[in-house]
Amino acid sequence: MSARIRLTVNGHPVEVPAGASVAVAVAHVTLRFRRSVSDTPRAPLCGMGVCFECRVQVDGVAHVRACMTPASEGMQVVTDA
Ligand code: FES
Repeated sequence: MSARIRLTVNGHPVEVPAGASVAVAVAHVTLRFRRSVSDTPRAPLCGMGVCFECRVQVDGVAHVRACMTPASEGMQVVTDA
């Protein structure tokens, strides 16, 4: 049995396998990660750190790429969509 990581996304408790990305955790709650400058909901596109469409706030730090950031215990993630 793999270890589990517990964090929150927009205040909702989420549990993911150890090694999962923040993007995986966010997808448990919403597929809207952020809004574009034209106010369009955006979601991960590339999954490898290139498109920046997956940016979220992590522990108060804005513009963190969810696809490139491992989820960690107690992390607080907030989307902008
Ligand atoms: S999905 Fe493209 S940078 Fe994260």
